Amino acid sequence: MPKTILFVDEEPLIQKALQRALHNGQQEWHMRFVSSPQEGLAAMAEQAAEVLVTEVAFTGQNGLEFLIAVRKRYPQTARIILSGYVDRDILLKFSDLAHQFISKPAEAEELKAAIGRAFMIKELLAQDALKQVAARIKALPSLPSLYQELVRLLRSEEASVQQVGELIAKDMGMSAKLLKLVNSSYFGLPQQVTSPAKAVALLGLDLTGAMVLASGAFEQFNAIRIKGFSLAQMWDHAMAVAALSKIIAAEAGFGRGKVDAAFMAGLLHDIGKLLIAAHLTDSFVSIIQHMQAKACAMVAAEREILGTTHAALGAYLLGLWGLPDRIIAAAAFHHDLSSEPVPELSSTAIVHLADVFANALFYLSDSRQPLEGLDTAWLERSGIVDKIPAWRVLCADRFQNGH
Ligand SMILES: [Fe+2]
Ligand SMILES: [Fe+2]
Repeated sequence: MPKTILFVDEEPLIQKALQRALHNGQQEWHMRFVSSPQEGLAAMAEQAAEVLVTEVAFTGQNGLEFLIAVRKRYPQTARIILSGYVDRDILLKFSDLAHQFISKPAEAEELKAAIGRAFMIKELLAQDALKQVAARIKALPSLPSLYQELVRLLRSEEASVQQVGELIAKDMGMSAKLLKLVNSSYFGLPQQVTSPAKAVALLGLDLTGAMVLASGAFEQFNAIRIKGFSLAQMWDHAMAVAALSKIIAAEAGFGRGKVDAAFMAGLLHDIGKLLIAAHLTDSFVSIIQHMQAKACAMVAAEREILGTTHAALGAYLLGLWGLPDRIIAAAAFHHDLSSEPVPELSSTAIVHLADVFANALFYLSDSRQPLEGLDTAWLERSGIVDKIPAWRVLCADRFQNGH
């Protein structure tokens, strides 16, 4: 079965450039190009594409309405916005209408990776074993209400750091978590921060949003009572992986958007473990026993007992919540980099490294100690492996300074 992609862009030059950029070596991709939302809908009616790549600005036609129509009529189609618009307000308006957002001019590699990622996620989520296990979970956690409130606030015209700070301050648990984060060694601030508004100003709205989402999601698992499982420990691990992901992404020279995405991906990467512990408790206990008996990794035990992994289940939940593909891919493949479509330092690779570092935090500064679980073969292929020792030292320093 060829993988079908529909491109919608009224600029003939962009169409040509896309054709040239993507044709090389992508024989299994079946690509169609049209120039307007109207033609786009007609092309979809003829044959629904698996992936849609579209501009949102068209003369005389509304790209927003087009995306709403596609979402309604073809919910299975992955939607990627490729646009010259990078305006924050527009991004927020479109954020839940698209799985990925790429700004023009885009590198061919970036676009290939985005499309490849969309196909990878579709394939993963279509696996029978995953669908069967997900069906056994009766009540999936919902998108946290404070997060929904925050998104609504950010969408309004007059959203300010002050207002976001006030919203957060109403929730004491959330305020405490936010303050703990900004005052942790990872942020290396000279002074203690004591007000939520100041914390929001320091973190920025995107990181604050990520914290509100993750913390609200974790709260829904408060009732888990299993021997050997600690939600507090899971939260600490999520925070460590998020902070280390942010440090690595910034050190690698990424822009703000990618750094913030890496942080969010780090926070949510193991959320599938909570799903298993809360809803498939017997399996969770068997998984732990299996790990101990066979001295194997958790994902290996999960495959044995469940037929799927916490990584896939987490990706499934994040997909239901409509989070960006980058975040879903990081959760899905953080133990399996070979599934990454392009060998480059993606959010997935960053979270993989941060996860390995976080699990080795107490001996990270001792470079003689080997790192467990590192996907060395993939990291070698992607040319990232040489950078790891320096990142390791940097992360170890940040951690040690505060302890
Ligand atoms: Fe994991
Ligand atoms: Fe982890």
